[in-house]
Amino acid sequence: MPILFVNKERVDVSSSVPGDTPLLWVLRDSLDLTGTKYGCGMALCGACTVHVEGQPVRACQTPLSSLKQGADITTIEGLTSKEGAAVQAAWIRLDVPQCGFCQSGQVMSAAALLARNRRPTDADIDAAMAGNLCRCATYVRIRAAIKEAARALA
Ligand code: FES
Ligand code: FES
Repeated sequence: MPILFVNKERVDVSSSVPGDTPLLWVLRDSLDLTGTKYGCGMALCGACTVHVEGQPVRACQTPLSSLKQGADITTIEGLTSKEGAAVQAAWIRLDVPQCGFCQSGQVMSAAALLARNRRPTDADIDAAMAGNLCRCATYVRIRAAIKEAARALA
C-alpha cells in the first residue's frame, strides 16, 4: 500500500488505486484537497502545482507509482513554510487574484522559488513562473508580490 505524507499527515493510499493515477486525483478525489486545480491535465498550465520533497511538480502528470514510499507532499492547504506564508501575505496585500483559478499553482511555484532563492531577479521570477499560466493575466501583480514577499523574508 503506497504511503504518502501529505501536509505532514500520513496517508495510506488504497492499493486498489492504480499506479498510473495522477497525484492530482489522489489529492482531490481521495483526500478532498481541492485547492489544487485541474487545468490542462498535460503539464502545460501549472494550475495543479504542488511540492514533492520541496520541489514544485505538476500533479496532473505525476503518477502515483512515480512517488517514493513516504514521499513528502505539500499542497496549498498545508503551505505553512516561512516562504509560503510570506507569499500568501503578499498575495493578499497586493490583491493578486482575479478569478483565482490558477492562483494556488502560482503561489506554490512562487514559494518554491523563494525557498531556493531569496533574492530573485526578474529573470529568475520569469524562469520559475513560466509554466504557470493565468488567463486573467495577473502576471504583473504576481511579479510584484514575489518581490514583496522576498523583501519581507530579507
Ligand atoms: S493541470 Fe497540471 S499543468 Fe495544467
Ligand atoms: S486569476 Fe484567473 S486564471 Fe489566473
